[in-house]
Amino acid sequence: MIEELGENLRERHGRLFLYEGDFEPVWAQNIWRAPKLIEFTSIASAAKELRAVQRNWKLHPGLTSHRRASLIEQQLPTIRFKAQVFPAPAPRASLGAWTLLDTNKMLYSAECSSPFPDGEVGFVENKVEPPSRAYLKLWEIFILESLPAKGARVLDLGSSPGGWTWVLDQLGCEVVSVDKAALAQSVPWSKRVKFINESAFALDPKAVGKVDWLFSDVICYPERLLQLVQNWLSAGLATNFVCTLKFQAPTNHEIAREFLKIAGSRLRHLTCNRHELTWTLIRS
Ligand SMILES: C[S@@+](CC[C@H](N)C(=O)[O-])C[C@H]1O[C@@H](n2cnc3c(N)ncnc32)[C@H](O)[C@@H]1O
Repeated sequence: MIEELGENLRERHGRLFLYEGDFEPVWAQNIWRAPKLIEFTSIASAAKELRAVQRNWKLHPGLTSHRRASLIEQQLPTIRFKAQVFPAPAPRASLGAWTLLDTNKMLYSAECSSPFPDGEVGFVENKVEPPSRAYLKLWEIFILESLPAKGARVLDLGSSPGGWTWVLDQLGCEVVSVDKAALAQSVPWSKRVKFINESAFALDPKAVGKVDWLFSDVICYPERLLQLVQNWLSAGLATNFVCTLKFQAPTNHEIAREFLKIAGSRLRHLTCNRHELTWTLIRS
């Protein structure tokens, strides 16, 4: 985050970064789009200011004045954040965020980029069926963007042990699942899943044919992934893309910018992404 913001970074308060500039950092989990800094005289007046703007607020735990923040919070309407059940859509109600920067200084934003508290999606997890926790990344993208339709033809590259293939199979997609390692045997894969034991980079798009969605969670340099995406784009054989960019240290911010040059695409740091970003191009 610090590297991405560079000279635009003004202040850091724990996980909250204040920056200048008309851009949205891709490593941010939640962007406060209309921040306001106010000085307040009492706990009641701070709560009143927030209530006057809108109903729903989430306190971002700051580095200071925790007791005062909690007293303000008690004077705001209570929100029960329920765990998200896939595939229910993301909440529509606007959720504002606020924090105390000092005893009498409050920073708040009614408009935020994420409808989830602090941008973190807490799913009701399935700890039994999927063979890896990676399925949570697809669930998150699908509720934020859109779902592949039942019967859609999808390609899952770097699929093993099969978390993403499991999600796609459950959705009723025709899945071409590709990995150099085998899919988990513990999962009763449906007949819709066709496994190809090969390198994603050795696949000829023309041999695979048209796919509605191309997924890649392959462990590889992002430069190599970009080449693969460009091959598929120029072949005109894939409509939608969801790909994980896996970074080594130091982070290659330049390649992230190259991905963003692909018109209509976006990059996100999902709740379950570690030193990775998820690139999407959703066109249908
Ligand atoms: C992070 S795991 C994928 C997890 C998977 N998406 C899931 O949900 O379970 C990365 C996978 O990339 C595979 N991989 C690495 N190089 C590959 C290549 N050249 N072609 C295909 N798969 C590759 C690895 O075998 C590994 O299974």
